[in-house]
Amino acid sequence: MKEILEAIERSAIRIKRAIDVKDIGYSQEQNSSGETQLQLDIQSDLIIEEELSHVASVHTIASEEKELPMILNEAGRYFIAFDPLDGSSLVDVNLSVGSIFGIYEGEFIGSKLVASCYVVYGPRVELVFAYEGKVKLYLLQEGEFEYVKEIHLGEKGKINAPGGTQQFWAPYHKVMIDSFFAQGYRLRYSGGMVPDLHQILLKGGGLFSYPGATDKPEGKLRQLFEVFPFALIFEMAGGQAIDGRIRVLDKSTAHVHDTSPCFFGSNHEITVVLDVYGRN
Ligand code: F6P
Repeated sequence: MKEILEAIERSAIRIKRAIDVKDIGYSQEQNSSGETQLQLDIQSDLIIEEELSHVASVHTIASEEKELPMILNEAGRYFIAFDPLDGSSLVDVNLSVGSIFGIYEGEFIGSKLVASCYVVYGPRVELVFAYEGKVKLYLLQEGEFEYVKEIHLGEKGKINAPGGTQQFWAPYHKVMIDSFFAQGYRLRYSGGMVPDLHQILLKGGGLFSYPGATDKPEGKLRQLFEVFPFALIFEMAGGQAIDGRIRVLDKSTAHVHDTSPCFFGSNHEITVVLDVYGRN
C-alpha cells in the first residue's frame, strides 16, 4: 500500500505541474508549434497509468477516461479505479479540481474497497488517504507531502451541497433540501465533487447529495471512481454514504462505469435523508 500511495503522490505532483502550464487546460488548443495539445484529463490519465505501472502490487487499473479496465500485472493484488482529473472543465475557470482513487482488493466491487485517496488541486495541493480506519490529510510543501492531521466528522454540520438539476428532482427531495436551508444550512457547491466533499470533511460535516432524478434516474456520479472511494472516506471519518436507502458500498456494480445516486454526510444529515427517502 505504501508503494501505491507514493505512486499517487508522484502522479499528483506531475498533474499539478500540468495544470499550471498555460495551454494545457484548454482542450483542442494548439501549442506554439501548431501541435494539438493533449487534453488535461487525458494527460492526467496517462501520468497515473505510468506511475501505477511501476507498482508490482497493482493487478488492474480502471480509469474514468477509458472504456475498459487494463491488466498491469497478473500477480498483483490490488485493483485501482481512478478519476484522473475530476471536474476538469473547472480548470478553465480556475476553480479547484481533483483526482480520486479507489483501491480494491481482488475485484472492483464496493465490499472489496480497502483504501481510498483523493488529491485536491486548489490554492494548495492536499491529499487525503483513508486506510485501516483512519483518514489522514497531507499537504504538498516543497515537493513533498507532509502529514497534517487526521480528519473526523462531527455528528452534524452546517453545509448543504445539493447536486443535480433542481428542475428534475423528486418533489420530496426538493422539500428535504429546502428544509436544510430553512434550518440555517449554508449553500456550498462549486460543481467539483472533490473540493465540495473536501470542504464538508474539513469543516466537520454537512450534506452533499447527487440524487437520482427524472433526467438521470441513477444519478451522475460513477460508483467505482467517485462514489465508492468517497464513501469509504466518509465512513472512516465517522460519517456515512448512502444512495437514499442503503449504504452505497453494499451496492452491486455490473459495469465499471455504473453510476449511483449518492448522499455523503455526517450522521445527523444522513439520518434525515434515510427518513425522507424511507417514506417516499
Ligand atoms: O463527475 C463530474 C462532476 O464534475 C463532479 O465533480 C461534480 O460533483 C458533478 O459532476 C457536478 O455535476 P452538476 O454540474 O450536474 O452539478
